[in-house]
Amino acid sequence: MKFLISDKIEEKGILKLKEKGQVEVETSLSKEELKNRIPKYDAIIVRSGTTLDEEVLSCADNLKVIGRAGVGVDNIDIDAATKKGIIVINAPEASTISVSEHTLGLLMASARNIPQANSSLKDEKWEKSKFLGEEVYEKTLGVFGLGRIGSEVAKRARKLGMDVLAFDPYISEERANELGIDLSIKEKVIEEADFITTHVPLTEETRHLISSEEFDRMKDDATILNVARGGIVDEEALADAIKEGKIKGAALDVFEEEPPFGSELLEMDEVIVTPHLGASTEEAQVNVAVSIANQVLDALEGKPAKNA
Ligand code: MLT
Repeated sequence: MKFLISDKIEEKGILKLKEKGQVEVETSLSKEELKNRIPKYDAIIVRSGTTLDEEVLSCADNLKVIGRAGVGVDNIDIDAATKKGIIVINAPEASTISVSEHTLGLLMASARNIPQANSSLKDEKWEKSKFLGEEVYEKTLGVFGLGRIGSEVAKRARKLGMDVLAFDPYISEERANELGIDLSIKEKVIEEADFITTHVPLTEETRHLISSEEFDRMKDDATILNVARGGIVDEEALADAIKEGKIKGAALDVFEEEPPFGSELLEMDEVIVTPHLGASTEEAQVNVAVSIANQVLDALEGKPAKNA
């Protein structure tokens, strides 16, 4: 069995695959190199750095399984894979806690201006009054998407004493009640939340879910968080909304283009950013790598795939 690992994954997952076959780790292949090499593998493991589009997959003549070491499968053309009989598997549970904790970290960091204050003090400035923050206690967190991560974020926010108002057309009132959350329509979440966080996959339906129309309706002091996928929040509309004082600011871990070099959002004091770190913890990376390796091996042995 031949495996290609084309984005960095944790060693424990690689060792599992090595027990069953030959593993090659090549994390900086160009598209042309990938097209040339992909025919010789039975399975490929990717994170978000490798794009498996129709053109690449058309060369994947022996590929049986694509393992996405993570949650989002937006870098994989699932239809093209399915047409070639290639199974696509992801590891949706392995990073839930890490991504939820990072979301809460950004929530607190934006409420208290922690990154800006850190930079200021390291520049030898003592700007206490500039960084007057706000409490999150008794504020409303608006959550778009109450799947695994959205639910964990909501639970943690409730423990901070926040009210949670969520929009998710696919979840029952009963489940929301269990989480101590009020389900509502999109407009109400947009209009009433002090902080808004998105936890939905990027699809044609969710692209620019938060755009100028939504920014127009938000509270002037609202903060938007995106630790899900770039593209869910319309970045151009976000920059305009902040400049026009329609919202207070944003905390972003993901971007329409990564890295987002040249984006005006990076220049704005009201925007705090991290480089797609949601799932970047030791625990999540081990969980993700082991989970995807086990599932890829199961799929190659003909066992039913659990995810994606
Ligand atoms: C994911 O979808 O699992 C995260 O965005 C992390 C990653 O892409 O590596």
